[in-house]
Amino acid sequence: MHIAVVGLSHRTAPVEIREKLSISEEDVEPSLLKLKQNEQVLEVSILSTCNRLEIYTLVRDSEKGIAVVSQFLSDYSGLSQEELLPHLFFNHQGDAVTHVMRVAGGLDSLVLGEGQILSQVKKMVRLGQEYQSMGPILNRLLTQAVSTGKRIRSETNLGTGAVSISSAAVELAQLKLGQSMGQDQLVTLESEKVAVVGAGRMSRLLLQHLQAKGCAGLFLLNRTKKRAESLASDFPGFQIDCRLLDDLDTCLSSCSLVFTSTSTNEPIIDASRLNKLNRASSLRLIDIGVPRNVASDVSEVDGVESHDVDDLQEVVSRNQEARQKIAMEAENLLNEEGRLFLEWWDSLEAVPTINLLRSSLEKVRGEELQKALSRMGPDFSARERKVVEALSKGIINKILHTPVTKLRAPQTRQDRQNSLKVVETLFDLEHQGDS
Ligand SMILES: NC(=O)c1ccc[n+]([C@@H]2O[C@H](COP(=O)([O-])OP(=O)(O)OC[C@H]3O[C@@H](n4cnc5c(N)ncnc54)[C@H](OP(=O)(O)O)[C@@H]3O)[C@@H](O)[C@H]2O)c1
Repeated sequence: MHIAVVGLSHRTAPVEIREKLSISEEDVEPSLLKLKQNEQVLEVSILSTCNRLEIYTLVRDSEKGIAVVSQFLSDYSGLSQEELLPHLFFNHQGDAVTHVMRVAGGLDSLVLGEGQILSQVKKMVRLGQEYQSMGPILNRLLTQAVSTGKRIRSETNLGTGAVSISSAAVELAQLKLGQSMGQDQLVTLESEKVAVVGAGRMSRLLLQHLQAKGCAGLFLLNRTKKRAESLASDFPGFQIDCRLLDDLDTCLSSCSLVFTSTSTNEPIIDASRLNKLNRASSLRLIDIGVPRNVASDVSEVDGVESHDVDDLQEVVSRNQEARQKIAMEAENLLNEEGRLFLEWWDSLEAVPTINLLRSSLEKVRGEELQKALSRMGPDFSARERKVVEALSKGIINKILHTPVTKLRAPQTRQDRQNSLKVVETLFDLEHQGDS
């Protein structure tokens, strides 16, 4: 059995490819079912975020299992294997273990240490448990990845500073505004007429950062106005004008800076829409949606500058150096957690022999107890029988404690296999199917 992860991320694929491989929450269950139907796949779980799609598996055969997952990704995206393969990454065993811990810790994120990824890994665990696509191995691995993500945030300084894709998006707006004024630095947004489209989690973070960076007020547009109003009510000191998405054209005509962060599958802003408008000023669009909310053809429209989630790299790399240093602190922690998981997994090799040993001793105990009880005759009370039974169980557990602990303890594979052989020979244990 092998642990393998197949996937793609902002490191391996541009947003044009990633958006084709975004598996929505409704599609997770049928996707897990489809993968699980293949006899190669023993356990599976899916992590789908705006910056990555990763499929974690326990497979019978590493190569065949990876081929099954790659084919699934090709079928799902409609991309041929030739188109897809250059963007996929594959990790096995120890590398797959360290990878998921790194992901949960935010160390593989575009914005190092961002917090959203940990909730997304938690969601992957919840869905895998709910749809019963995970067994003991992935369950343990992914649950441990979540606790590693928490440890990294509490035991290093990586989680400080409230960084997110949204904070990077606001910084990109500040940087682009600064550059348009001939300054290669972040400037205040107080002069900008701003709109935010979408009222979900990312928009909430956008509002927080916009407020912190000097934005005087904004339009908040959403498909359902109630959700926009509810979000706005959490920012009492911030001037927020809530509108329905129907007012998008009005806002695009009057605003100079528009952020989009909705979960639409198709773009809501494209060149033909913008060309119909009588815009008052130049327009900067910053789209953090994946799939993208803004079509790539808007770059052809005069006076419109558009940036997608991949463009955040520009601002991210400007202030990543300090965080890289902090990320190094987390590496030891990752390695330690990875080692603990692999030791646990190795120790499972001893379980069948331990179970055989336990049932063999249990058989002896049961037979000897019956003999003793029948010799004691009817004068022996029920309470006394219970005491003798508990005594016999206690002796077996005490005898088993040391060998079981030693068999499961961290050691080389060869040492464990030698010890298992000795136990099997001495106690004459035969595995099912053994001749
Ligand atoms: N979560 C992250 O860490 C993260 C990071 C970077 C980028 N993103 C991307 O940012 C976008 C928003 O993510 P989120 O986490 O904020 O989502 P969310 O909390 O689920 O909110 C989704 C938002 O999208 C709107 N929406 C959904 N379908 C729509 C449609 N067909 N047309 C117009 N609006 C629609 C919803 O409007 P209603 O209120 O009317 O339903 C809501 O405002 C996604 O594209 C996501 O991939 C997310």
